[in-house]
Amino acid sequence: MRAMLAENRLHPSDFIWPLFICDGRDCEEPIGSLPGVSRWSIDRIGAKAKEAAALGIPCVALFPNTPENLRTERAEEALNSGNLICRAIKAIKDSAPEIGVLTDVALDPYTAHGHDGLIDNVGNVINDDTVSILVEQALVQAAAGADIVAPSDMMDGRVAAIREALEREGHQNIAIMAYAAKYASAFYGPFRDAVGSRGRLKGDKRGYQMDPANIEEALREVELDLAEGTDFVMVKPGLPYLDVVARVKDAFGVPTFVYQVSGEYAMIEHAAAAGAGDRDALILETLLAFKRAGASGILTYHAVDAARLIAG
Ligand code: PBG
Repeated sequence: MRAMLAENRLHPSDFIWPLFICDGRDCEEPIGSLPGVSRWSIDRIGAKAKEAAALGIPCVALFPNTPENLRTERAEEALNSGNLICRAIKAIKDSAPEIGVLTDVALDPYTAHGHDGLIDNVGNVINDDTVSILVEQALVQAAAGADIVAPSDMMDGRVAAIREALEREGHQNIAIMAYAAKYASAFYGPFRDAVGSRGRLKGDKRGYQMDPANIEEALREVELDLAEGTDFVMVKPGLPYLDVVARVKDAFGVPTFVYQVSGEYAMIEHAAAAGAGDRDALILETLLAFKRAGASGILTYHAVDAARLIAG
């Protein structure tokens, strides 16, 4: 009877699995602050995507740990059609053509200063110059075979500019998932380790990411990105922002994704390791909470674990 009456349930198709890419051959680099998550070299990334596809996960999200010497003030490596992301897309399409590939549009894995955009000499992000680089970055990813481009930088006007460029270049089947309401959060630490930007980040991202105090602003951000032509919107982080997920879904009724971010993942892993709760139950309960709040899908480092748990 409980199953008959359940208002929400989890399915592997709810998940998008973030994967970190590193340079080199036959490499697995465990990420200390993200227990159980590793960076994989290009020659091993296809197998990870295949594993996800076999479990019914429809999409992976790719993030690079750009080699030190390729990080510059103006993030030129983001536009290199032979960069880690572009090579990873091809490797994944070769070994698991049925899985979708989502790529992050933002400059932080490529800048020497770790910010998502260009910065001026006092450290403020330069919105409009950044947008033109993001457009080029999205086009490079699209040409390499990305199915969804996901601007995570929080610059103003980038969705419209990316949409226009994709149309112009004949990429009308590529979707945009805008990180529409992305907060300046303390939960991103392990991710910044994973892409190697933590140590180099000067200052913080409060100049372009949202204040955790605000929810009306989240609705305005979502409205803008929709007006500019995004196909999906995203709220990030996840569990501490379930109210935002619910409000966005109620207000707009559009596909609303949520990112259970690295710090949230780490909290669950550390809590379980310390005996504070059952790991599998913590994973499934938190993911189900996103569905209850109205999320259409969840980016989660637990995607493969959760898909296995659901399959039983
Ligand atoms: C940056 C980006 C971040 C995440 C995804 N894209 C971090 C940040 O804004 O500093 C965070 C994801 C996570 O913590 O799991 N463009």
